[in-house]
Amino acid sequence: MKAIIAAGGKGTRLYPLTYTSNKHMLPIANKALLLYPFEDIVSVGIKEIGIIVNETRPSIEKLIGDGSNWGARVTYIDQPIAMGLAHVVKISEKFINGDSFVYHLGDNIFTQGIKRPYSKFVKSKSDAMLTMIEHQENYRLGVPFFDEDGKLIRVVEKPENPPNRFGIPGLYMFGPKVFEAFKGKDQIKPSARGELEIVDLYNYMIKKGYKVEVAELEGEWRDPGKFDDSLETNKLIMDLNKRTEINGKVDKDSKLADGVVLGKGSTVTNSQILGPVIIGDNVEIRNSYIGPYTAIGDSCEIVNAKIEYSILLPDVHLVDVRGKIQASMIGSHTEIRQTKERVPVYSFMVADHCRIDLPF
Ligand code: G1P
Repeated sequence: MKAIIAAGGKGTRLYPLTYTSNKHMLPIANKALLLYPFEDIVSVGIKEIGIIVNETRPSIEKLIGDGSNWGARVTYIDQPIAMGLAHVVKISEKFINGDSFVYHLGDNIFTQGIKRPYSKFVKSKSDAMLTMIEHQENYRLGVPFFDEDGKLIRVVEKPENPPNRFGIPGLYMFGPKVFEAFKGKDQIKPSARGELEIVDLYNYMIKKGYKVEVAELEGEWRDPGKFDDSLETNKLIMDLNKRTEINGKVDKDSKLADGVVLGKGSTVTNSQILGPVIIGDNVEIRNSYIGPYTAIGDSCEIVNAKIEYSILLPDVHLVDVRGKIQASMIGSHTEIRQTKERVPVYSFMVADHCRIDLPF
């Protein structure tokens, strides 16, 4: 058994953060998004993992390397042009080399991991496994259609009137017969949006009479591709992994409520922190309030400031900020400081695609 993880893409909906980083590297509860699928795959015992990359390759290679830190062997597969989710399968044929495999989108998080559907796939010895989950807006997804006996008959991409509440998330499992879908006269063709669609791989296998099983996923599914989703996913994961772990120094004038993780070399002085909060290494917090669902990267400085429900990337400096900062994502090496000006003027140096909400 092998696995592939799709980790290309520009992440344009997360500009400006994804100008300098890629979305798979953005931290959710202080851990790179890509590590959630990667570690879930490792946790079911799969060791051969292909990661599909484009310009995202250098940062991902730096994070995961050859995978040996996780006991895995990682192969990087370049995808020069993105032509849809099934195209990722097509270009992975050499790496898969006749095995069965799990295909996980690199920006998808399943709070219950992949164990249950994976064991079902292995036990069923089927040619493909379709995972599905209930979703309010399944008209935005691939939707499985069943006959009266509950047998899967086809999968439709973004149907106008879905006949049920299920959608297919970014977790697919296939046996080696799937590669037939790229060959011969019946091979799948690009859709109206110019992509080789994942639903068409399932449709191809159903048509050929191959054994396609279905697994309904439990727990929550997130693909935090946008600003608001990232904050919400950060909250969800922090709630699920709430813990107290103090590796830094807290002075006697500070109050820490339950669920605070404080990294090595970090100091908290005369401050109040209400968990769940995760603070990285070498962070300085002084005369400040840190509220729930805040994840603070390494080497940040928060002095005379208040912040909650936010994500700070490493090396952010919030100094003497009068109002409370809330629902914010702040990129690395950013400084926000109160100036000595008496007139209320704002001074910005912001990159493209930033958003700044000022109070009334
Ligand atoms: C893609 C797939 C769709 C699937 C969805 C999951 O949609 O085509 O079948 O349900 O991912 O996120 P897209 O994100 O390309 O609209």
